[in-house]
Amino acid sequence: MPHPVAIHFRDIDSAALAAATGRLVLLGEPGEPIAAAARPIDRRLRGAISRAVASEAFAKLKPGEALELGFPAGLSAEAVQIVRLARRASVADARKAGAAIAKALGAAGALVLTGAHRLSHEISFGLALRAYEFGAHKTDAPKLFGEVGFQVANPEAVASLARPMAALAEGVFFTRDLVNEPANVLTTDDFAARLAAMHELGLEVEILEEGTLKLLGMGALLGVGQGSPSPSKVVVMQWNGGPAGEAPLALVGKGVVFDTGGISIKPALGMEEMTMDMGGAGVVAGVMRTLALRGAKANVVGIVGLVENMPDGRAQRPGDVVRSMKGDTIEVINTDAEGRLVLADVLWYAQERFKPSAMINLATLTGAIIIGLGHENAGVFSNNDALAAALLKAAAAEGEGAWRMPMGPAYDAKLKSRIADMRNSVGRPAGAITAAQFLARFVKPETAWAHIDIAGVALPPEETTLAPKGASGWGVMTLDRLIRDGYEAR
Ligand code: BES
Ligand code: MN
Ligand code: ZN
Repeated sequence: MPHPVAIHFRDIDSAALAAATGRLVLLGEPGEPIAAAARPIDRRLRGAISRAVASEAFAKLKPGEALELGFPAGLSAEAVQIVRLARRASVADARKAGAAIAKALGAAGALVLTGAHRLSHEISFGLALRAYEFGAHKTDAPKLFGEVGFQVANPEAVASLARPMAALAEGVFFTRDLVNEPANVLTTDDFAARLAAMHELGLEVEILEEGTLKLLGMGALLGVGQGSPSPSKVVVMQWNGGPAGEAPLALVGKGVVFDTGGISIKPALGMEEMTMDMGGAGVVAGVMRTLALRGAKANVVGIVGLVENMPDGRAQRPGDVVRSMKGDTIEVINTDAEGRLVLADVLWYAQERFKPSAMINLATLTGAIIIGLGHENAGVFSNNDALAAALLKAAAAEGEGAWRMPMGPAYDAKLKSRIADMRNSVGRPAGAITAAQFLARFVKPETAWAHIDIAGVALPPEETTLAPKGASGWGVMTLDRLIRDGYEAR
């Protein structure tokens, strides 16, 4: 499992800069004098740094982009990278600057001189997030990211700001690894074992097996998994870092380790992407890991429903009627609308057992949300304006796209079934919203609830600023921020 690159923070030391053999990274901004600590390097290079920063090419760079001097005479470094970043840069630009450093990073590592820049920790965070590669299944040795040293004016202060961010990067990597992992490796058993291993971090982890799920009456969830040889499971992860007895925040995740569509089978083209259909559960797992690693002062419970949706002689059929744990019956019109069946039971279980102060579920729930919002924004559905606003604010602060979607009784009315209490699928119009309305039927009126449809953002088709092509880890930063600002700030 890839871990974030090792980063340390040291005092400014010009001799070490001159002797560095990997990459040397400096910051510059047109119109601002180069940092005092960079001047000895500039002198050794006979003013090449100041000339580069004053150049037309540099002026054309966007904040966070970089220019490079290769094999500079007078230095041991293999390259000097000059990243455009103003003293008063935004957090987003500082992270982007870090990502630019990571994109060029090789096995020889880098020495980064950020000096007195007040966002040195954000630069290091952006670097850590972008220096990710999922190499688990490449026979040839995966690309190595060498150690990174930062030279800063106040190493202890920067290191203490960077420490919780390193925990966050670990959580994001955990989510990305889970989402990138193929379904023959990440079976329900394997997924549950990876979650159980987080016991070492101080999380309380329980695995509910099929027998228990039957006794609980989770007929909706069990129906989805009945065509797969992999056993269905619900995993409960508790982090109790807050006041004893305080109601927890509940995070619920859709963990369909592979979604063939079941008997309502999906077309072959692109079906391989359905290894990411456990993305909601992956985000919940990454957040729980982060909370444990940074010792968050909040009570949070993460609950994921792990199933595989397969066609089989024993698989659920279109037209079957299942009974949910809540007691409501569901006509399964389309076995490919399985995520809502899994979540229905896990949402109900979360409320019955934990009486949470709020409940947020994440799911790669619908293709319709991709049609609506593309890969730029996750869809946020909520019965509570304050919770929705807090989520959108956290997402904006972390630079993760999120957009609120409407709900209402007219959409709910579409779920009417001729023979059961509701149907699991309706026509194409407003497909993401009718899916959310289905979930809402399993939310108690007194529970503040939000559903985040991450189908478009969990595995974007192209690289993003802070992630290479592949799983993004979308949502780990947003939820960690939400918990920091709304659940720990007391
Ligand atoms: N896992 C899919 C949704 C999905 C689609 C996620 C594309 C990521 C990328 C979900 O289970 C599904 O199949 N939804 C159907 C629902 C329909 C049958 C009502 C869909 O969106 O087509
Ligand atoms: Mn499906
Ligand atoms: Zn699915």
